[in-house]
Parts: sequence; structure tokens; C-alpha cells
Amino acid sequence: MKPARLISALIGLGILLVSNAVGAAGNIQEGAAKSMFCSGCHGIDGNAPFPGARMAGQSTQRLGQNLMGFKTGQRFHPVMNILSLGLTKQDIDDLSMFYAAQKPLNLEHASLYWRLGGPDALNATVAETIKLSKADPRLAGRLSGACAPQLKTQLCAATGGPCTHSGRDMKSAHKGLNVSDAEFGAVAQNLVSVLDAFKVPEKEKNELVGLIAPMRGVIVGQ
Ligand code: HEC
Repeated sequence: MKPARLISALIGLGILLVSNAVGAAGNIQEGAAKSMFCSGCHGIDGNAPFPGARMAGQSTQRLGQNLMGFKTGQRFHPVMNILSLGLTKQDIDDLSMFYAAQKPLNLEHASLYWRLGGPDALNATVAETIKLSKADPRLAGRLSGACAPQLKTQLCAATGGPCTHSGRDMKSAHKGLNVSDAEFGAVAQNLVSVLDAFKVPEKEKNELVGLIAPMRGVIVGQ
């Protein structure tokens, strides 16, 4: 490989790694158009009759990793290896967004987003958490309804749903707010009591808490 090509390949890899780190940056509509080609084997919405080919409602992370795995040969399947060669990183992001947004017929490989109940359940969880937090003396009006869209997108992206949200957005969204550890803990506790009230199973609850805990770093003390 010539040095110039090697350098551009390395830059390409760098961009890939950085974009992976901030989550899928795909577009659902673009993905829908591109999925026509896949629907013969995977079903119009990714709910193929053959369980091994079901993609509906998987996490954007899992879909992206599998497609990239086929493309790079890390995962072997004769048909998918050849088909994925023609896919760009953008195609993979768009397709991952589209399939992550489709309601799965069964939850076996479904993202946490769908195991928690999908968009309606997520919206209700956020609305209730904000309601509890507004009335919470530990927070004294610090969390308002204006946070709802951000919180929804953040939870949707973190649970593998079809949303884009980057860690950097989180940091700048909290800049100057001086959120304390105690305030972060209070919101997290309110969220857990909403999950309990909604009877979210222990496994899903723990997974969600496990995703939220590391966000402390980009929220507290900014
Ligand atoms: C000719 C049929 C065919 C077409 C067309 C096809 N696939 Fe596949 N795909 C398969 C089969 C079969 C499997 C199961 C592979 C296995 O069992 O390892 C699969 C597996 C996958 C998986 C892994 C699923 C999982 O949960 O492990 C993904 C992701 C995927 N395909 C995406 C796509 C996308 C995106 C397209 C369109 C660009 C596409 N496929 C087009 C046949 C096809």
C-alpha cells in the first residue's frame, strides 16, 4: 500500500472509531430506502420469519457491529459477507437506525429500548421522572419540563434505540448548571422509583441504571 493510501486508510479508521464512540449517526428515512434491498430475506420491517435473520428492534450498536463485522470478515456468512462489501459506514448507520426503530415481534435480541416498552414507555418514564423531580425538595425546581426532549433522546440513544446523542452534547448541555452529586443521585433515584412503579423487571432496571451511572462524569460539576 502506498504511504498516501495508508494515511487515508488510517484517517478513515480514526473517523470510524470516533463516530462509533458517539453512537450511531444514521437517518431512519435514508435507512428505510436502503433497506428495500434487504427486505427480501429480512422482511419489510426486519421481522423475518427465520429467527436468525430477525433484525427488528435490535440495538443500533449491535446492528452496526454485526454489519461492520460482515464487511470486514470478522463475522462469517457467505451471503452477508458479499452483500455488506458495498455498504459504506453511512449506509450501515442509516440501516442500523431504521431496523432499531422497528417494533420487534419477539424480544430475544431486542435492544433495552424495546425491552423497556419502546417509545411510548420511554416517553412516559421521562414525563413521570420529571414530574417527581419537580416536586422533589432535594432538587428545588432544578429539573424542568424543558429537559424532557434531551432526556428522552439520551435514554433512547443509550438503550440502543433509534436516536443520536453524543457525549459532548451532554457535557455542553450541563455547562454552567453546577449539577451536584446529590442532585444527580436524586434524579437517578426518582427514575428508579418510576421504573418500579411501572413494574420494569429487575434485569432491565439494572441494565438501565448501569447505563446511567457512567453519565455522572459528564453531568456533575460542569
Ligand atoms: C439473500 C438474503 C439476504 C439479503 C438480501 C440480506 N441478508 Fe442479512 N442475513 C441473511 C442471512 C441468511 C442472515 C443470517 C446469518 C447467520 O445466521 O449468521 C443474515 C444476517 C444479517 C444480520 C445479523 C443478524 C443477527 O442478529 O445476527 C444483519 C445485521 C443483516 N443480515 C443485515 C442485512 C442488511 C442491512 C441487508 C441489506 C443491505 C441484508 N442483511 C441483506 C440474508 C440476507
